[in-house]
Amino acid sequence: MTSTWIDTLLGGPLPAEGGTLLRRERTLRMSAGLLRDLAVTDVGQAQTRDAFAFKWSRRDTYQSEAMRTAIGAWLAERYGDLIAKLGDNGGRPALVLDAGCGAGNAASLLFAPRWRDMRYVGVDISTAVDIARETIAAATSECAFLQADLMALPFEDGLFDIVISEGVLHHTPSTRDAILATARLVRPGGLYAIYVYAKKSPVREFTDDYIRGLVSGLDGQAAWDRLMPLTKLGQALGELDIQIDVPEDVEVLGIPRGKINLQRLFYWHVCKAFYRPDLTLDEMNHINFDWFTPTYSHRQTPDEVRSWCEAAGLVIETLRKEEAGITVVARRPAG
Ligand SMILES: C[S@@+](CC[C@H](N)C(=O)[O-])C[C@H]1O[C@@H](n2cnc3c(N)ncnc32)[C@H](O)[C@@H]1O
Repeated sequence: MTSTWIDTLLGGPLPAEGGTLLRRERTLRMSAGLLRDLAVTDVGQAQTRDAFAFKWSRRDTYQSEAMRTAIGAWLAERYGDLIAKLGDNGGRPALVLDAGCGAGNAASLLFAPRWRDMRYVGVDISTAVDIARETIAAATSECAFLQADLMALPFEDGLFDIVISEGVLHHTPSTRDAILATARLVRPGGLYAIYVYAKKSPVREFTDDYIRGLVSGLDGQAAWDRLMPLTKLGQALGELDIQIDVPEDVEVLGIPRGKINLQRLFYWHVCKAFYRPDLTLDEMNHINFDWFTPTYSHRQTPDEVRSWCEAAGLVIETLRKEEAGITVVARRPAG
């Protein structure tokens, strides 16, 4: 833990190194300076955790200026300024939970202009949280971290002003249950901001599951290596830079008519093989690895996400559907 106020959030003093704390039927152990609850629900979640621990440990594949600029712009476009959207917070810094903070990549980009106005709690099921602590503690002292499963966090309902979960909830056994488990933590009047994967066209859905079946059983390095030829194919298609004109909607394959770059046609409708000219091959492979390797990687429809947010008692303020995913900013109605 970096800050002292985390003990207030957990309702009591933190244990010393090696000691434990029991909260909401979870046992958290203080280990290497962080409280950790290492229990996982099943083997799929354990594999998903390990896949992310591997990919976030490869810092050289996601921290370049080009990658950070692209992701930072995309985050800002989808969420805007969440602290401003929260509105009046009684003069207190906003208490923000980042559920599935990974290595703190999204938080370090999205909240960079706002660290002074918030207290940040990062939670991740994997050891990526240790990297997040290093990264975010360099930007703000008002931060605390926990290694735990977001499905069973040791916090009381309504504790946070903002809960954000960027690209995480679909990596649990059930996106619906993950929404319910994290939305309960938003206080009345507080904000809930999430991004989950969207369902794609049928052949792409097939290859997603097919390739995931091939690589999710491998160890991190073997999966990384097995995906590299696909990444090179995406690069070769992208470098062609060819536009084609799909003459009519191909309804049976979910392909709309109109002009589309050949690599994008392959990417959206046949198989994810990421390409951006300003990224290195390793950075592109990192993106493909992120997609194919975790056992849990559900895709949802806007109607599903809408209905689950509503079931959690939230009112949706914006829902943005892109080909890749669905971003929701919702609020728990005030008292
Ligand atoms: C694609 S990464 C996103 C990380 C971060 N939100 C970002 O955008 O930079 C997904 C993260 O979710 C975490 N995760 C998956 N299942 C989780 C769970 N049940 N509880 C907490 N974290 C989980 C993974 O360990 C991984 O770091």
